[in-house]
Amino acid sequence: MPLVPMKQVLDEAAKKGYGVGAYNVNNMEQIQAIMRAASETKSPVIIQASRGALQYSNLIYLQKLMEAAAIENPDIPTVMHLDHGNSLDTCKTAIGLGFTSVMIDASLEADGKTIASYEYNVETTRSVVEYAHERGVTVEAELGCLGGIEDGHGAGIAADDATHLTDPDQAVEFIQKTGCDCLAVAIGTSHGAYKTMRYDKEGNALPPRLALDRVEQVEQKLAAAGYPNYPLVMHGSSSVPPELVDIVNKYGGKMKKTMGIPMQDIQWGIQRGVRKINVDTDGRIAITGAIRKVFAETPEKFDPRDYLKPAREALYELIKQKMIDFGTAGHSGDYKCMSLEEMARTYKK
Ligand code: G3H
Ligand code: 13P
Ligand code: ZN
Repeated sequence: MPLVPMKQVLDEAAKKGYGVGAYNVNNMEQIQAIMRAASETKSPVIIQASRGALQYSNLIYLQKLMEAAAIENPDIPTVMHLDHGNSLDTCKTAIGLGFTSVMIDASLEADGKTIASYEYNVETTRSVVEYAHERGVTVEAELGCLGGIEDGHGAGIAADDATHLTDPDQAVEFIQKTGCDCLAVAIGTSHGAYKTMRYDKEGNALPPRLALDRVEQVEQKLAAAGYPNYPLVMHGSSSVPPELVDIVNKYGGKMKKTMGIPMQDIQWGIQRGVRKINVDTDGRIAITGAIRKVFAETPEKFDPRDYLKPAREALYELIKQKMIDFGTAGHSGDYKCMSLEEMARTYKK
C-alpha cells in the first residue's frame, strides 16, 4: 500500500467516529516503533516530521525512512505529514520529498513565534491549499494560537489566556476562504512537557484548563454551514504520564512536576469531531526514560543498540496503547487507499 493522502484517513475516521494519532519522528527507531504498533493493532497511522526533524535528518534520511515504513507495512494506511510548516516554500519542499500531507501553520508568522494577523493566515493558507491540492496533497491549517514556546512552535501564551482560542464563527469563514482539509483548533493545549499552570496546595500538578466546549461549538457551526464531519486537529495532546516522568527522574533525570492532557479529554474531543491527535512529548519521555535506565543500571555498556532497542520498545508500548485509546485499532483494512493522483482529481471536481 502506498503512502496515502491524510484527507482520506481523516474522512474514514470521521465516518466511524475514531481518532488517528499523528506521531512526531526524527529517526529510524521512532519510525519502527510507531509502525510496529500500527501493524500489531491494525491501525492507520500518521507519521509527521517537523522542520527541525527534517533539518536534523538532512531531509533525505527521514524521507527514505518514512518511505521504508510504507514499503515494510503494505497493509497499513500511512500518511507522511509535515508538522508546523511555516511558509509556502517549506510546504513545497515537503511535497517535493513525497509528503502526502502538509500543515501550514500561518497562525504564526514565518518565525514560528510572532502571532500573525487573520488576513495573513487566510492568504498564506490559501496559497498552500492551491499548490497542494493540485498535487493531491492534504492541507492542515491552524486558527487561534497554541500556548507554549518550548519547541519553537508556539506563541508563549499563558495557558489561561482565552483571547487566542479558536473563534467558532471565524473557523467557518476561514475554511470557506482557504479550502483547507482539516483545522487545528486552539483550546488551551500547548506543546511540550509543561502544559499546566495549575498546582494543588502540596505542589502536585493538576491538568491544564482546556476550553473543550470550543471543539463542540466549532463542530456544530461547521455542520450548520455545510461541513458535516469536518476533521479537527488537537495539537499538544501528550498526556505526560507521571509513571514515565518518574522513570526519567528515577534514573538521574530532572523533570519538574507536571501534567498533560488526560486521555478522557482527548476521547471527549474525538466524540465531537477531533480526528487527528498530535503526540510528540510522550514519546520523547518514554525514550529518554528507557535510555537513562540502561545507562544507570549497566554503565559498562557502550553499544548504541543496547539502549536504542529498549527505547524503541518503550515507544512501541506507549503508541500501541494510544492507538487503542484513540479508537484507531482495528481500522487499517477498512478501505482501499487512494493515490495522490486520484485525490487530485477529486479536488478538481
Ligand atoms: O510541534 C512540535 C513538535 O513537538 C516538534 O518539535 O520542532 O522540536 O521537532 P520539534
Ligand atoms: P506534544 O508536545 O503535546 O506532544 O504535542 C506535539 C504536537 O502538537 C506536534 O505538533
Ligand atoms: Zn503542534
